[in-house]
Amino acid sequence: MDDGAPMIFPEGFFWGCSTSAHQIEGGLVNDWSEWEKSDARLAGLRDRKLDPQDFISGRAANSFVDANADIACMASLNLNAYRFSVDWSRIEPAEGRFDEGALDYYLDFAKKLRARRIEPFVTLWHWPVPLWLRDKGGWESLQAPVFFERFAKKAAGRLKGEVNFWITLNEPLVYGTMGFLKGEWPPQKRSWLAYRRVENNLVAAHRRAYDAIKALGAESRVGIAKHNICFEAFRDRLINRLLAACADWWWNRRFLDRLGGKQDFIGLNYYFHNKVDWGFGKPHAYERYSDMKWGLHPEGAYHLLKGLERYRLPIYVTENGLADRGDQHRSWYIAEILKNVHRAIAEGVPVKGYFHWSLIDNFEWAHGFDPRFGLFEVDYSTFERKPRPSAAFYADICKNNRIG
Ligand code: FCB
Repeated sequence: MDDGAPMIFPEGFFWGCSTSAHQIEGGLVNDWSEWEKSDARLAGLRDRKLDPQDFISGRAANSFVDANADIACMASLNLNAYRFSVDWSRIEPAEGRFDEGALDYYLDFAKKLRARRIEPFVTLWHWPVPLWLRDKGGWESLQAPVFFERFAKKAAGRLKGEVNFWITLNEPLVYGTMGFLKGEWPPQKRSWLAYRRVENNLVAAHRRAYDAIKALGAESRVGIAKHNICFEAFRDRLINRLLAACADWWWNRRFLDRLGGKQDFIGLNYYFHNKVDWGFGKPHAYERYSDMKWGLHPEGAYHLLKGLERYRLPIYVTENGLADRGDQHRSWYIAEILKNVHRAIAEGVPVKGYFHWSLIDNFEWAHGFDPRFGLFEVDYSTFERKPRPSAAFYADICKNNRIG
């Protein structure tokens, strides 16, 4: 596939970066921000001899105060698309009370992007929920889909002139698994029943929001960002093949299948590869690892994209990236991933865009500020953004619509 010739991407390909509100904006009050400061969480961190300040989102990357700093980063990367999320708690701080100022803020932000020919891709929900919803049971509540529909209608109604691409939900299975099965993220439950409720409610929420947004204007494109894992059978043994097929169904396809026809595109978030093994295999070794010890496996992007072809919908890689403070692997990883994306496109898979996670360093959920995912480094004491070497590498790709 890589014969050294430049790989040209289709005309109009979206070159973007992704972020989410809670991870960059700062100043948010929602279930996550409260959990970060809860006694149990702080005690747990102290037990591990960690500094709680590194795990409290607080001012995050200060993006809400100085959005122009981020826009300057996007411009210097030659992006023509940017995926960000609006924060539900900011827009609807109390049940049924919408903050017009917050809606205006996001509208203004989308306008600024458009003025620079950067297409906004807006995520409506990237994990935290407002405190009033938390107190009603959060995503376990049967009312949650109805609340989400109302919120989606309000946000999309305000932004619709400037925004065509909507991502209702970010990684619903990651959220459900971490918060309701593994008990690692708020609300730290370990209940199969709670998980099922959450998953069902997220399906219902998407379907309702899809209809609500489409009713505002047929030109809107609505989908979700789905975290898929490339499952591969270890040593190609039959039992492993069967297990890999089950995992693929359970993790990669089931949720998308449940959304039925209510998707205009598929958003793929790609980070993980998994060699499925029943029994004796050694843990799979990778050529390179991120700072979080995630094995880097660029070929996985190709296999997952091929797997998504069955939906016959446009596909956007809505997230892909790595924690790499020293920027040792980022350019390599971007190049290798894009070769695999290009290979899928060459074989007819309708991939229409790639969004790197992330534009800037940000608050990595339960891992706090330590992992550095940014093409731009953030100095958390001054909030200055400084390009890592890979920023120039990506900027060239975005500018030329090609790699090599
Ligand atoms: C994804 C999340 C995103 C970010 C990256 C590293 O699972 O959607 O918010 O944390 O991982």
